[in-house]
Amino acid sequence: MTATSLYIGLMSGTSLDGVDAVLASFDSHGRPTLLSRSSIDFPAALQAELLALNTSGLDELGRAALAANTLVELYAQAVEHTLALAKVSPTQISALGAHGQTVRHRPDLGYTLQLNAPALLAELTGISVIADFRSRDVAAGGQGAPLVPIFHAGIFSAPHTRVIVNLGGIANITVLRPQQSPFGFDTGPANVLMDMWCAQHTGRHFDQDGAWGAAGKPDVGLLSALLESEPWFARSAPKSTGRDLFNHDWLEKRLTQFGINVHDPESLTDTEKQNIQATLRRLTAETMTQCVRLYASDAREVLVCGGGARNKALMHDLQSMMPCPVRTTDSEGIGTQDVEALAFAWLAWAHQHGVAAGNPAVTGAAGQRILGAYWPA
Ligand SMILES: Nc1ncnc2c1ncn2[C@@H]1O[C@H](COP(=O)(O)OP(=O)(O)O)[C@@H](O)[C@H]1O
Ligand SMILES: [Mg+2]
Repeated sequence: MTATSLYIGLMSGTSLDGVDAVLASFDSHGRPTLLSRSSIDFPAALQAELLALNTSGLDELGRAALAANTLVELYAQAVEHTLALAKVSPTQISALGAHGQTVRHRPDLGYTLQLNAPALLAELTGISVIADFRSRDVAAGGQGAPLVPIFHAGIFSAPHTRVIVNLGGIANITVLRPQQSPFGFDTGPANVLMDMWCAQHTGRHFDQDGAWGAAGKPDVGLLSALLESEPWFARSAPKSTGRDLFNHDWLEKRLTQFGINVHDPESLTDTEKQNIQATLRRLTAETMTQCVRLYASDAREVLVCGGGARNKALMHDLQSMMPCPVRTTDSEGIGTQDVEALAFAWLAWAHQHGVAAGNPAVTGAAGQRILGAYWPA
């Protein structure tokens, strides 16, 4: 094996916004250099079907298999774009790491399920595929998530305590202390509830730059009700979550209990709708800030990645609420949209190099395990 090898990472997360792809070279220690990247938005039909498959429905097994095939056709397009940008051919790639699309995440019941079609992806790309990264950790009694803290430690460690905050559909946190193993967990919703509310009332999939919600004012009473009504927030780590908990029903039930008529949008003024959006944004900022204060009071800085980093109002909230300076991973030379995809390229590298990338201190698994399974080109 040569000193450096090329890997591709493919990530599509809870937000159901699309797929992010990166091509990176890794040195013999697993340190990455990003060579190219691309993103493809999910077509509306695929997005709707993947969302529907998050809850049980008619012929869900057959539909899931077809959706997985459609998903990897998009993955293959993202691979092709990413390779073309770097002028690299598929035969030069050691393997690609493909996350798949989480449709169920119930480590408490012993399973986590990512829709994926690795065999088809190997056929379409001519590249060896490594996939199904979470199930082994769950089989070992872990949460199977978050998987990124070990990778964060490799690229973001500093001589002082740093916190990495990933604002995807769900938010997760990594605490990095010098000479210590990384620690991390999911903190709760980041964009998933905001996206839902925004889509319902504006027809747009997300609140561009956070502008719509920025015109509203957080409702302190509603914020307290959201925080207090959900015992998951107070649970200690290890913990992870997804749309299994933070979904449409979760939000609707709480808004209804608070006296908001969610079934008649006409009963709400635009300002009231924006106030709710601002409250959901504040819920993300508040839960994240509480976790940093509780688990990383010695943090000297917070680095933000994930799509939520582009929500200016959310970044502003975090900057004014956190006990230390907050900036994005851009300042470390890694784009906010590339961190997760790069982590899955690294997880593929780790699998092929026999590196046990499971992190029991984070997930609660019985031990470190080699993650993922291999489909040769
Ligand atoms: N320009 C933007 N302004 C505000 N929010 C954004 C912007 N771009 C992306 N987002 C948010 O980020 C989400 C996607 O983030 P991402 O990190 O891809 O999450 P996931 O891993 O769950 O797919 C979108 O659904 C949206 O809520
Ligand atoms: Mg995404």
